[in-house]
Amino acid sequence: MDTAGLLEPFKDNNKRITVLTGAGISAESGIPTFRGPEGYWTVGSREYRPEQMATHSMFTQNPWEVWAWYLYRHTVCKNAEPNSGHHAIVRMEELFQDRFCLVTQNVDGLHLRAGNSPERTYQIHGNLNYMRCSGECTPKLFDFPKGIPDKQKDQPVTEEEKELLTCSRCGSLTRPHVLWFDECYNETWYKAESAMAWATSTDLLLVVGTAGATNLPMQIGTMVARNPEAVIVDINPSDNPFRQFAARHDRGIVLDGPGGQFLPELLSLWET
Ligand code: APR
Repeated sequence: MDTAGLLEPFKDNNKRITVLTGAGISAESGIPTFRGPEGYWTVGSREYRPEQMATHSMFTQNPWEVWAWYLYRHTVCKNAEPNSGHHAIVRMEELFQDRFCLVTQNVDGLHLRAGNSPERTYQIHGNLNYMRCSGECTPKLFDFPKGIPDKQKDQPVTEEEKELLTCSRCGSLTRPHVLWFDECYNETWYKAESAMAWATSTDLLLVVGTAGATNLPMQIGTMVARNPEAVIVDINPSDNPFRQFAARHDRGIVLDGPGGQFLPELLSLWET
């Protein structure tokens, strides 16, 4: 069955839709991916191996090196704008309402900035627009401090900025609200169980711009691929495990190209 034949029925078949996104959807907004040629894990920082920066153990040893790196990444995300792919996903939520859920690995906050609702958006790796107490004195998320200016790569954190990156409740250091490589998914910070519960009972899994290198998204893909009735769509200009899920699935669709092009096209199937 062709793409339209598989997808049009979702217009009004009362079935569940999950959109799962990775860094690729923000590439067209100018935010580097992680594992692409200019990716954060490919380029990394001057002193350290890339992934090292995104670990709790590194934060414990060199908190200001890690903060300097995240302040730079926050600057990149803050100065980026949602693209046509993000806007198409907002429109999908408007169309499908409670049948819709967005699971994103992105910490750039562009989905919420584009207009997706916090209630139906699971940010399973956190969001750089928030920080939290590294001593975990409270489960509360703090807004990113307004007093911190845009930062260049490898630009050190000033004493004034260090003041702003201190927990207002207990005086401990704060940390970026992101999931690090040596940490586990959980429900409190990352809504991991909620995302898993919804996504594994989905009828349509629409995957955009991920290389499938992280655990929870791959578990979701594996579970949905076991359901012969489910439809799996992968949008990505490169091969990746989700493309393989879709290619091997009877009700699978592989769209070999950018999210900014294919997402509006899919949306048009449901808007007519
Ligand atoms: N449209 C769709 N996909 C794209 C586009 C685009 N315009 N540009 C690149 N891609 C694809 C790439 O081909 C690649 O498969 O996006 C994917 C990006 O992969 P990664 O850089 O590995 O990013 P992601 O899969 O989101 O990484 C997952 O790993 O490093 C951790 O926490 C980090 O959230 C991140 C997670």
